[in-house]
Amino acid sequence: MSRVKAVSLKDRKRSGEKIAVLTAYDFPSAKLTDESGVDVILVGDSCAMVVMGLPDTLGITMDEMVHHVRMVSRGSEHALVVADMPFLSYQISPEEALRNAGRFVAEAGAQAVKLEGPASKFGGAIEAILNAGIPVMGHIGLTPQSVHQFGGYKVQGRDPESRKRLKEEAKGLEEAGCFAIVLECIPADLAGEITSSLTIPTIGIGAGAACDGQVLVMHDILGLGAYTKFSKVFGDARFVMQKAFQDFVREVKSGTFPDKDHQY
Ligand code: KIV
Repeated sequence: MSRVKAVSLKDRKRSGEKIAVLTAYDFPSAKLTDESGVDVILVGDSCAMVVMGLPDTLGITMDEMVHHVRMVSRGSEHALVVADMPFLSYQISPEEALRNAGRFVAEAGAQAVKLEGPASKFGGAIEAILNAGIPVMGHIGLTPQSVHQFGGYKVQGRDPESRKRLKEEAKGLEEAGCFAIVLECIPADLAGEITSSLTIPTIGIGAGAACDGQVLVMHDILGLGAYTKFSKVFGDARFVMQKAFQDFVREVKSGTFPDKDHQY
C-alpha cells in the first residue's frame, strides 16, 4: 500500500470518507498506529506533555521534535507523517519557519508540517514553507501554544465575534494553501459551518462529528494521558502495563522468573 499523500486528503472530503488521525512519538507507537490503518500520524508537540512530562507544549525544542519525528518516520509506511512545528520555530520569521520545516523533511523524514494560528499572523511562514514544496496543515481554535493568552485550555468560538473570527481564519488558511486544518475545542455547530465552507478537510479534536476527520492524542485513547470531555479511552493500556510491571516484580522477588523455559 502506498503512502497517503497530503494532496489526496481533499479527495476523502469529496467522497465523504472520514480521515483518521492519531498522534505518535516513537518507533513502536508509529508502527502500531500505521498498521492499524490511520491515514495520518501527527507527531504533535503534545509530546512535551504526554512523553516528556512538561506542564504545557511550550517547552519542547526543535531538536527534540526532530528526534521524535525521525523515530515515527522509521516506524510508518502507509500514513502521512505530519510534524508539529514547536513554539517559536515559525513565529519569528518566514526564513526560520522554512529552515525548521525543512529540517523535519530532510533530517526527520516527515511529509508535511503543522503550525498553529491564522494566516493573518503566519501567512509569510506558510508561503515560505509551501514555496519550498512542503505541505502545511493549519490549526485554529484552542491552539495550545497560546494557552497563556487564552488564560487556560478553554473552548473557543462561543460568542458571535469569535465565531466570525474563526470562520475567517479557516478561510484564510485555505486561501494561504493549507491542505487541511485542525479545529480544536470549538462548538460542533461552528465546526460544521466551517467544514462545509471549505474545500480542504477539517480535522476535529473536541469539535464534533461534522468535521472531515478526527484526531486524538494516542496516550489519551490508551488511558495514559488526560481525561477530557472530547477524548475517549478506547483501550486501557494503563491497566495492561501496570499489571505486567507488577507481575514482573512479583515473579522476580519470589524467584519464579526466570523459570526453566526462560533460561539457557
Ligand atoms: O500536539 C498535538 O498533539 C496536536 C493535536 C492534539 C491536534 O496538535
